[in-house]
Amino acid sequence: MPSNAWIRFRYKLWAPHYDRVTRFPRERRRSIELLDLEAGERLVIVGCGTGADLPFVPPEVQVLAVDLSPDMLRQARAHARPGIEFREMDGMALDLPDGSFDAAILHMVLEVIPDPVRCLAEAARVLRPGGRLAVFDKFLPEGDRPGPLRRAALGLLDFVFTSTNRQMGEILARSRAPLEVEVDEPSVAAYRHLILRRV
Ligand SMILES: C[S@@+](CC[C@H](N)C(=O)[O-])C[C@H]1O[C@@H](n2cnc3c(N)ncnc32)[C@H](O)[C@@H]1O
Repeated sequence: MPSNAWIRFRYKLWAPHYDRVTRFPRERRRSIELLDLEAGERLVIVGCGTGADLPFVPPEVQVLAVDLSPDMLRQARAHARPGIEFREMDGMALDLPDGSFDAAILHMVLEVIPDPVRCLAEAARVLRPGGRLAVFDKFLPEGDRPGPLRRAALGLLDFVFTSTNRQMGEILARSRAPLEVEVDEPSVAAYRHLILRRV
């Protein structure tokens, strides 16, 4: 499992190039449309990266964007609209009160964060009852059991870059988070859009 120090190092190298390689504008728009944000709502973006989601968030929404990597956050701050708050924070141990947000975004974070189960549980914890969480990520299809060789290859890829060796159903079950899946729709390649509601 990659450590936080390794993740910081990896994204220090990635930060200057990230926006040229990872775009997904249509998918970001779709995910945020599904989140159905209303004026005045409080939104937390966990693992916000370079802030590529920010142009798709309605301006009347109050945004806190957090990431572990100071280099990714620096890129995000550089082109964000005024009023957005940024904080360096570990998505596996959010320094935020319970139930303090109406909505949360986890875009391409569960695939890279060392412990996706804790990350999902933390996102659920900071949502108020009835709050919504948008996940956009690539997952192994449910029930797919890769053989040892494929698992080893995916594990290596996971360590240096990113991979698809995680299953959303398993992450959700293991998190024991009070979340109900409202939307689960296919997106490009192995990517999916999910909306989960905090019960
Ligand atoms: C693949 S990038 C996705 C960035 C952004 N969400 C996007 O959609 O473009 C993964 C991001 O997760 C962040 N990350 C990884 N581990 C983290 C952690 N423990 N806490 C917070 N952010 C983390 C990385 O620094 C990186 O910015």
